Amino acid sequence: MLAKSALQAERLCPFPGVRAASLIAEDPTYAVPEQYRHRILNKEERELIKASVPVLDKYGLEITKLFYSKMLAAHPELKNVFNNANQSHFEQPRALAQALAAYASNIDDLGVLKAAIELIAAKHVSLYIQPEQYVIVGEYLIGAIAEVLGDALSPEVAMAWTAAYWQLAEVLIKRENELYQQNHGWTDWAEFKIAKKVKESDEVTSFYLEPLDKGLKPLPAFLPGQFISIQVDVPTLGHQQTRQYSLSEASSPDHYRISIKKEPGAVDKSKQHSPGLISNLMHDTKDEGDIIRVSHPVGDFFLQTESNPDAPLVLLSGGVGLTPLMAMLSSLIAQKSSRPVSWIHGARSASARAFTDQIRTLAQSRDDLQVTLFEDHPEEHEIPGRDYNFSGVVDLKQLDDEKTLFLHDTRAQYYICGPPRFMSKMESDLIERGVDAGRLHMEKFGTGGIPHVSTTSPA
Ligand SMILES: Cc1cc2nc3c(=O)[nH]c(=O)nc-3n(C[C@H](O)[C@H](O)[C@H](O)COP(=O)(O)OP(=O)(O)OC[C@H]3O[C@@H](n4cnc5c(N)ncnc54)[C@H](O)[C@@H]3O)c2cc1C
Ligand code: HEM
Repeated sequence: MLAKSALQAERLCPFPGVRAASLIAEDPTYAVPEQYRHRILNKEERELIKASVPVLDKYGLEITKLFYSKMLAAHPELKNVFNNANQSHFEQPRALAQALAAYASNIDDLGVLKAAIELIAAKHVSLYIQPEQYVIVGEYLIGAIAEVLGDALSPEVAMAWTAAYWQLAEVLIKRENELYQQNHGWTDWAEFKIAKKVKESDEVTSFYLEPLDKGLKPLPAFLPGQFISIQVDVPTLGHQQTRQYSLSEASSPDHYRISIKKEPGAVDKSKQHSPGLISNLMHDTKDEGDIIRVSHPVGDFFLQTESNPDAPLVLLSGGVGLTPLMAMLSSLIAQKSSRPVSWIHGARSASARAFTDQIRTLAQSRDDLQVTLFEDHPEEHEIPGRDYNFSGVVDLKQLDDEKTLFLHDTRAQYYICGPPRFMSKMESDLIERGVDAGRLHMEKFGTGGIPHVSTTSPA
């Protein structure tokens, strides 16, 4: 018997074959098989899990690739939920393999995984993942482990992994239930109208989204830096797709704003990949008045104001990674915060850079906000000091350690968002200059943004 709240009614999704019901459970662990419910692994099981870390290192990706291909073949309705590009270039199998290795390595001290759990739970909640779906995932994941390892998998290890799967599933299910509770009844995809579409640069367009449901007026406030998922029908695929977008301005009661870069298509050594599916669909086919589905704002990357509310802030962005930082900056301004802020932004060119005028206006409105613009390829007519500050990619060595990077102030907080290579460089450069990792906050615009966790088995 599933213990679910009667308050939430099951709804049919407008697209075929999909149940879009999202129900808060009174006992969220209802889907966990009874023999594993509220059960902690014993010492022998933990030893078996730790001993399998080298095997996971070697076969983890093979296991997770097989897991996804078999699960999605048997449950095509889940293609509505999983990002098809992350399956094509195997970023999602990689993210899951990495998470499982981190889990196995830290099975004796799950506290180490707190940040990773927060990130996964937030992503799941933004997609309305349900406890009963853990049954499907568990079946195909354990099945893939058995198939890849074959006779090398002893019955004891197989049993230990089944128990370990459910222990982790229960942690996630409980945390996800808590997050659903915080959404005050908004526990399913909600229809929003595109009220306004505004071009911010050659490649970034903002969409102002207003809820159709009167129950969502006023809209719930979000923390600056958080994101929503959007869900759209994709006729060429015959199913839906979802993508995440950071809210790109301070919380407002009547609309959410997201700002989407039109992805031209990745080029790797051997071939050009097709242009980004949903970003192009949004730019080219969605207009003012059109309806899309939206999930409740969520996310563990947000401006932390409670501890050290006056500490200096350094916002570091690359390309469209400026969107969550725009929300942080506009919230600070709306709150008349006197926190010193230094924003360092890198863009390929002035025409690709979004929000330039807004950022300049904001900078003029406050003495304690400095903006430093790097441009890979300034155009001839652009004047250094007026149109941009430095040519080339963002290079912290060119900046004043104290006035711009606040390296002398051990309270300073650093928020970083941009392409993966940009974020790694900023992270390593700041750590090298003495900033402790706890003051770095990062958002990856993709899957597998798992915070650094050791995957080495403790001795
Ligand atoms: C928390 C979060 C916040 C985000 N916020 C924003 C935001 O504010 N603004 C924004 O623009 N984006 C944001 N994103 C990214 C966004 O969710 C999408 O990933 C992005 O818009 C691309 O989606 P798409 O459908 O257009 O491209 P996809 O179809 O998902 O493709 C993504 C990339 O993969 C390439 N690709 C496709 N197939 C392959 C293959 N087989 N091999 C190799 N490469 C391939 C494509 O060419 C493309 O470059 C955010 C992501 C997250 C997780
Ligand atoms: C113990 C079980 C599970 C683990 C360890 C797990 C792990 C993960 C991880 C590591 C991510 C990437 C998070 C990120 O970096 O943003 C993720 C995303 C995701 N998970 Fe899970 N997950 C589990 C269960 C489930 C279940 C039951 C579902 C439901 C079908 C699910 C659906 C998804 C989806 C749709 C995404 C986003 C994928 C994408 O963007 O490509 N997961 N999960």
